[in-house]
Amino acid sequence: MPATVLVGLQWGDEGKGKITDFMAGMANAVVRFQGGANAGHTVEFGSSRFKFHQIPSGMLHKGVTGIIANGSVVDPEGLLSEMEGVESRGFDLSKLYISDRAHIVMPYHKQLDGAEEALRGANALGTTKRGIGPCYADKSARLGFRINELLKPDALRQKLEFVCRVKNAYASALSLDVDIDAGAIYESMLKYSGAITEHARDTTGMINSMMARGRKLLFEGAHGIMLDIDHGNYPFVTSSNTVAGDAYASSGMSPRHPIRPFGVLKAYSTRVGAGPFPTELSDTVGEHLALKGMEVGTTTGRPRRCGWLDLFAARHAIMVSGVREVALTKLDVLSGIDRLKVAVGYEYDGRKLRDYPADASTAYSVRPVYREFRGWNDQLDEGMKRYADLPQAAKTYISFIEKFLDVSARIISVGHTRDRTIVRGKISI
Ligand code: GDP
Ligand code: IMO
Ligand code: MG
Repeated sequence: MPATVLVGLQWGDEGKGKITDFMAGMANAVVRFQGGANAGHTVEFGSSRFKFHQIPSGMLHKGVTGIIANGSVVDPEGLLSEMEGVESRGFDLSKLYISDRAHIVMPYHKQLDGAEEALRGANALGTTKRGIGPCYADKSARLGFRINELLKPDALRQKLEFVCRVKNAYASALSLDVDIDAGAIYESMLKYSGAITEHARDTTGMINSMMARGRKLLFEGAHGIMLDIDHGNYPFVTSSNTVAGDAYASSGMSPRHPIRPFGVLKAYSTRVGAGPFPTELSDTVGEHLALKGMEVGTTTGRPRRCGWLDLFAARHAIMVSGVREVALTKLDVLSGIDRLKVAVGYEYDGRKLRDYPADASTAYSVRPVYREFRGWNDQLDEGMKRYADLPQAAKTYISFIEKFLDVSARIISVGHTRDRTIVRGKISI
């Protein structure tokens, strides 16, 4: 049985949290395999709302195991406070496991994230300032700390002295307003290490053994494929691979186990932070999407930039992730717009591009080629239970997306909450 790998097909905030929660009811385990507290995944049912940053979004279902795998970067204090919040609302997190190989986001990673952004000035990336870039950079530079190191305090202390010397030298060479105190960091690590290591496991072995026993695994991607460090709009990206194939390297799952990549596509586009966004709208339609879609960053509270659906970008995201099935989200937000547009290509320098541009400066200067559709006025968030209930104009919009992307829209989401979800045919994981 393949493991389902759920990935966002745009620049994040596609509704991965909602769809993960929806599918997790059928899963034995939900695995977060990349990213960290920069993610903000919302799950809503009834009048309850949860915003997950590091905890897998599927853990509100009874009996589901949650795994934060090796490719994730863990902010221990943030994670413990998030866990406390969820547990205080009556949910059991005793089956949440953290890879002993996952890297730790240190306090100086967050400080450096902010200071480096300030140094970039007008060229800032607009990061979430959660220390993600500096933490992954240290992982690659072999200056990082992994969860298993919390178990050996003496060695931890020694290594901290060295790493903090390197970090302070770097900060002072660039005149960054950052002062890193190894002793204070060590003391704070001792405070949380017990609570974290209680959940630490060899999750690689756990995942492979679950797959071998035919358990149903759901991998929850974060951030969206256009923010992938290799395949997104570099450098306006996050610092991890977000493509479906990364589920292997970032969890240690053996490639002998097949995956089923499943995409989450929002019916229009949003982006938080800097970077190219060819279909961005700064008119009343953009305002409609922002207001009706309540497009405010889940992690940072920043307003999200809004625009038309970009199928040229989505086709690239689908190619690099092997997606054949998608959940189309936030279709209800499009109600009330007269004419809808979707980008089906880019023109650059008077020429139609065949492939998605690797270069952000090209992506900044392209002109989207649009296809127009009739909109609909019906509100979709009340009483829409079956695909047949949707207005014809919405069905035409969906059919075009399916055909253009060569995917099946298996799930249509028409509202925030679990019950506002239309499933086409029988869905299983
Ligand atoms: P994620 O990062 O991909 O998990 O997405 P976020 O949670 O950051 O942002 C998606 C927002 O849209 C959340 O507030 C969700 O509650 C909401 N949402 C998800 N699906 C739908 C939908 O179909 N319709 C509407 N109106 N809101 C939705
Ligand atoms: P979810 O999982 C939207 C964006 C940031 C910034 C860039 C780099 O909720 O979809 P980082 O802090 O990762 O170094 O920031 O990536 N970004 C996101 N945008 N949703 C997210 O997560 C994001 N995670 C990172 O805004 O432009
Ligand atoms: Mg989000």
